[in-house]
Amino acid sequence: MPQDGCANRLKGQVAIITGSSSGIGKAVAIQMAAEGASVVVNYPGGSPSGAEETIAGINAEGGKGIVIKADVSNEDEVKAMFAKTIETYGTVDILVNNAGLQKDAALVDMTLAQWKFVIDVNLTGQFLCAREAVKEFLRRGVVPERSRAAGKIICMSSVHEVIPWAGHCNYAASKGGVMLLMKSMAQELAPKKIRVNSIGPGAIKTPINTAAWDTPEALKELLKLIPYERVGEPIDIGRAAVWLASDESDYVTGTTLFVDGGMTLYPGFATGG
Ligand code: BGC
Repeated sequence: MPQDGCANRLKGQVAIITGSSSGIGKAVAIQMAAEGASVVVNYPGGSPSGAEETIAGINAEGGKGIVIKADVSNEDEVKAMFAKTIETYGTVDILVNNAGLQKDAALVDMTLAQWKFVIDVNLTGQFLCAREAVKEFLRRGVVPERSRAAGKIICMSSVHEVIPWAGHCNYAASKGGVMLLMKSMAQELAPKKIRVNSIGPGAIKTPINTAAWDTPEALKELLKLIPYERVGEPIDIGRAAVWLASDESDYVTGTTLFVDGGMTLYPGFATGG
């Protein structure tokens, strides 16, 4: 993975990236480590091999990190993850609320379990992690050598915080919820010098959406939704996350940065309407 343009913008800071054993989270973890952050690579359970691959990627960049297993929808496990992080690195400066999943079904076929699983991980998980991060940010306050802010939270949202998505009501509802969770937290915490923003990825090549790009037919259909005419790569999100976590974006809070090749630009209207 190319790490061009790294400038130690997160030097001396500690970042927790939830769900960083694959996909977007993995790229964010490696990119932040390459910028000098100590990184916590979180995975939900099962095999740790993905998280270990992320650590290998971090080490290849000369960075450092540890693996912590925690299900973000489980309050006790989230608390334990923050305690372990603080025990290891002393504090937390950056939280990337990245862990998320899809359990797709037509509305009439969607089970309550599918609905709850997605809301629990994608929305409640972001709340639980943000709450623990903010407790630590408030305890520590601003340390000017580290950052102008007392802490930064980046919520991984989606273009589907604004684009309705048939067959994915649970997922779209979770991301719509993330949008106002993020904005409400940003409004509440700005006076405490805590910045809260979201990234809204479009179609990024990761395991969550392989079916949307891995055949020529699927890719052709997908590209109709992307004015910039390429599918995104995880590094596109990694770079945006570094910027939002760094002091380069010190005056940015309460906003969603769409990194989507123009997917939110109503591509159908380029020729219609
Ligand atoms: C979803 C992907 C989808 C993309 C664009 C993301 O939030 O997780 O499955 O390809 O939005 O529709």
